[in-house]
Amino acid sequence: MKRLGVLTGGGDAPGLNAVIRAVVKTAIHEYGCEVIGIRDGYDGFIDDQGITPLGIEEVRGILPRGGTILGTANRGNPYARKVIRDGKETTIDVSDEIVKCIRRLKMDALLVLGGDGTLHIAHELFQKGVPIIGVPKTIDNDIGGTEATFGFDTAVTTATEAIDKLHTTAEAHHRVMVLELMGRDAGFIALHAGISGGADVILIPEIPFKYEAVVAKVRERVDRGTLFSIIAVSEGAKPLGEQQVFSRTGDEVYVPRLGGIGQIVGEYIEQQGFETRVTVLGHLQRGGTPTPFDRWLATRYGAAAVRLAAQGKFDRMVSLQGGKIVDVSLEKAVAVPKRVDINEDAVPVPVMLEVCHISFRMSMGELRLL
Ligand code: F6P
Repeated sequence: MKRLGVLTGGGDAPGLNAVIRAVVKTAIHEYGCEVIGIRDGYDGFIDDQGITPLGIEEVRGILPRGGTILGTANRGNPYARKVIRDGKETTIDVSDEIVKCIRRLKMDALLVLGGDGTLHIAHELFQKGVPIIGVPKTIDNDIGGTEATFGFDTAVTTATEAIDKLHTTAEAHHRVMVLELMGRDAGFIALHAGISGGADVILIPEIPFKYEAVVAKVRERVDRGTLFSIIAVSEGAKPLGEQQVFSRTGDEVYVPRLGGIGQIVGEYIEQQGFETRVTVLGHLQRGGTPTPFDRWLATRYGAAAVRLAAQGKFDRMVSLQGGKIVDVSLEKAVAVPKRVDINEDAVPVPVMLEVCHISFRMSMGELRLL
């Protein structure tokens, strides 16, 4: 193994730099192998100056830094690259150009740090002959085939701190505070931060909710003298029988953007006579320094990905299982996204039932919607 490529694609997540650092150090120290970085996801293969050498100097001091020194792009789909042709916007397939570029660069492996979109593309490029290895990244924690993605722990920490801060002002003003959190179609961030921060109601995409049940909980608290409530709402949560709320529709290039359900829930509660404020935590969940857990996980993933490349095990993804780093089929890992398992998630569900009992309630041993 003489030369490795590494790129970061999709939305950023705290810990990307820690993976890059581990990749460079492992490649150089264990294998005497050169590393090149590709800037801005797959776009770097096409753009001028998109390729950059990565040595020990380039990764010095980046372990605690959020973002990615390589840049990223969450519209960088080589199968649908946006271009202007005859004055009109259109999309073209540049995947073959990318494959040629990888061959020209004589890469023995390409390590792709990404979420489901980026890893799907990685698997497709493997089918075109590119020696690919995936590293699961996302604050949403929604990639199948692994118990954890790096970035999630940092996002949950930020979201929990936000709930702690909202608690003090909610209590002082006797208000309901609604906090909208990221996560797309998976409720992991809202569930983990909501439980850790002691939210009174947690709404997640996996369990459609009823507005009346949310208000009933707020009223019940007021009736027993607790004049404030905290509601953690995942951006993908939806009322029973209704659709998710989007702030922007998608197209061939852009994925649809979820957002706005927090405001709708807040307005409903306010209309029922409870003073309410809404906070959308947004991209604060993606920024900042990674937690020690994310640095630890990211570093292990980075080193493991290089070792997989050395063994020639391609079309694989590094994964955390039972505390150990293993590798799984990339194709299988991205085939089914991970969601909160409301039947088997032994720790949070009973706590949700006891603390929140809003979206659902245990009835005769079964989870029932309220
Ligand atoms: O997938 C990570 C994520 O932060 C989601 O939680 C969120 O829905 C989305 O990305 C936001 O994307 P953008 O950076 O395009 O606003």
